[in-house]
Amino acid sequence: MPCTVIAGAFWGDEGKGKIISYLALNDKLDVCVRTGSVNAAHTVWIEGKRYALHMVPAAFIYEKCRLLIGAGSNIHVARFLEEVEITNVNDRIGIDHQASIIEEKHSTQDKTSAHLKGLGTTGWGVGPAIEERVRRTAKLAKDVPELQPYLVDVSAEVNTSIDAGRNVLLEGTQGSLLSLFHGTYPYVTGRDTSASAICSEAGVGPTRVDNVLTVFKAFITRVGTGPLPGELTREEALKRGWFEKAAGTGRDRRSAPFDFKMAKKAVRINGATQAAVTKLDCVHPQCKGARTYTELPKEAKQFISEIEKQTKIPVALIGTGPEALDIIDRRK
Ligand code: IMP
Ligand code: MG
Repeated sequence: MPCTVIAGAFWGDEGKGKIISYLALNDKLDVCVRTGSVNAAHTVWIEGKRYALHMVPAAFIYEKCRLLIGAGSNIHVARFLEEVEITNVNDRIGIDHQASIIEEKHSTQDKTSAHLKGLGTTGWGVGPAIEERVRRTAKLAKDVPELQPYLVDVSAEVNTSIDAGRNVLLEGTQGSLLSLFHGTYPYVTGRDTSASAICSEAGVGPTRVDNVLTVFKAFITRVGTGPLPGELTREEALKRGWFEKAAGTGRDRRSAPFDFKMAKKAVRINGATQAAVTKLDCVHPQCKGARTYTELPKEAKQFISEIEKQTKIPVALIGTGPEALDIIDRRK
């Protein structure tokens, strides 16, 4: 895999954390760079234990993986320090000098500013922190005493790792349809979330990337406001077993069936070369825990084939349960 970018296909919460944790363990990732900010929570389940990570890269579960946070990210200092302790990664995590800082005032602005009203933001303050960065008045990681031990040049380190042929993963957050440029504006987040933007935040040029893996969930969810074609009622979602609560904010997630048109758009925007489909067991319960493609029932195989036919990219990984290793890996 030398350099792979992982990008969510829809409105986030596709299960990127799970896919990254599998790749970390299975492919023995050398380096994982997290982008975005604290608004996005990546859920990792390992040995019955659940982690909802807002700052630390999801590949932390492979203990030889070097963990980095890119220059384009926004650091929530308290949350970062707390997660470093929970995950015990103090000696192998680095932050770029130029990552910007998200402060308490940004969260207050997020919750009270008239121009953000009705967008259903997470309230962490990411939009206001980015506004401040654009004004060139933001505090950067290099200005924060507690972050001094972690400061590195992420772009230099990642590019050197790519030169050396090491396994590098660039971890995107949220999803393509929350992109400030390509999403359902104004019901979007404050940044571009596409594969190109993930590279940019990490300081990696497009010619250095070998693979773009886009993550689809077998059904679609969205938190906050904005359009969701085919939206189900809460009752219907509960009946189908698709009802979820947000890992970060605890809000109810809205849900809808898989949408091929949006899947094709995600493949186009990200230039995806392969796909993962998560939570197939939530749509086809007989898939639960399957680790080989032949175990899947006919309808599940038809669904996977239809995705491949319409998007014209292979479905390389299929999630069949919450644990990192509940995966059908078709790359083998
Ligand atoms: P903000 O990113 O907090 O400004 O929120 C803007 C929109 O993006 C809202 O609809 C949020 O619910 C959504 N959003 C932001 N981060 C995530 C995420 O990690 N998963 C899902 N939705 C998110
Ligand atoms: Mg999430």
